[in-house]
Amino acid sequence: DFSDPFISKRFRAADATPVPRFLSTRAQLYERVFPQYRQPVEIGGFSLDSQRSFFNDSRQLRYYVDPGKKPHFNLRDGYRDRFIKRDDGVKEKLDHILRWIVSNRAKLRSTPTSLSSSPLGVDFVTWRGHLTKVLTTPYETQEGWLLAVSYFRGTLYMSEVETEAARVNRENRTERHEEMMYWGYKFEQYVCADDVNSVPDRGGVVNTNEAFCTVVQTRLADHKLLFSGEVDCRDKDPAAPAAPACYIELKTSAEICTPKQRSNFNRFKLLKWWAQSFLPGVPRVVAGFRDHDGVVVSVETIHISKISQLIKNEHNCWKPTVCMNFCSDFLSFVKSVVKEDNPRLVYLFTWEPRRDVTYTVHRDSQYTFLPDWYINEITS
Ligand code: A3P
Ligand code: MG
Ligand code: MG
Repeated sequence: DFSDPFISKRFRAADATPVPRFLSTRAQLYERVFPQYRQPVEIGGFSLDSQRSFFNDSRQLRYYVDPGKKPHFNLRDGYRDRFIKRDDGVKEKLDHILRWIVSNRAKLRSTPTSLSSSPLGVDFVTWRGHLTKVLTTPYETQEGWLLAVSYFRGTLYMSEVETEAARVNRENRTERHEEMMYWGYKFEQYVCADDVNSVPDRGGVVNTNEAFCTVVQTRLADHKLLFSGEVDCRDKDPAAPAAPACYIELKTSAEICTPKQRSNFNRFKLLKWWAQSFLPGVPRVVAGFRDHDGVVVSVETIHISKISQLIKNEHNCWKPTVCMNFCSDFLSFVKSVVKEDNPRLVYLFTWEPRRDVTYTVHRDSQYTFLPDWYINEITS
């Protein structure tokens, strides 16, 4: 399905530089000075309700209620009878972010954008979760990814496509795995209140359709980014700093009993936690450590800015600078490959562990992801 270069009046750059075919993911290649990453600024947010309906406001944002150091929460409670699980077979692509953009176009256009040639004033629009996967790529040994990119009116849109392997895993999860996925959401319910003055409702239903997502703008090297990510809760202190600094990411993890478990936690879990929260500028993770029966035995706050110190003594460990430099170079690679402004053309960037990033080009295919309603809205 490889297309020939297509002659269009709207190419990104009218130069004849050769287009690269691949990008290496070897960590050592990215061990250089930390790239410029501007403090992320929240430019808005949106909510998805219990039916997954979109609202251009923060009605689903919850408030963190400190549970103390040893709360003994039972994370298994309610799995059978008080759990409504989002259908993860439904692929929403960038639709909610596009909906937010359409609802907030005036705000976006009035933002000073200096030399930008795009009406939105950004180079990339994507989900935070997609960028997290890019950041961790030089250290990932298990799961590959597919990222679809279309160039439309001066902005590159990047939307994940589920890999065949990920689909097989999703459709064949064990009952134990299904239940353990619930534990993370149950922990959220134990430590979150719906209103600033209320308390958590541990007897309520856990519905994973509900979400609050922040929309942030930032810049990595010369890439202007607009992305959205789910926020678990916020500090309820009215004197807390403005978003995203008041946001708190919630996590669960197996309790750490041995030096080997500590090392694995630092090398694998902290990488994912760091990448997810560093990107939107969320400063803290509250971690619930649980035993094999799903009982939370301790709760700890981890400051994202202290993680690089925590891992320094770890042998052969991941480095934040490698993650950020790889991301910057990947975005440059995308810019050098995707030149034709056409929402029906998709460049599919592919990566498998121990391989280079490569791509294929697809016209009017199953991969096209920018919906007509969005194209019509932006074009008019
Ligand atoms: P934990 O983070 O406690 O594992 P998030 O932490 O990003 O807010 O996600 C909330 C919960 O969703 C997770 O809780 C986990 O249970 C589930 N979850 C998130 N990403 C997942 C993934 N890729 N696969 C399976 N479950 C996932
Ligand atoms: Mg979350
Ligand atoms: Mg979380």
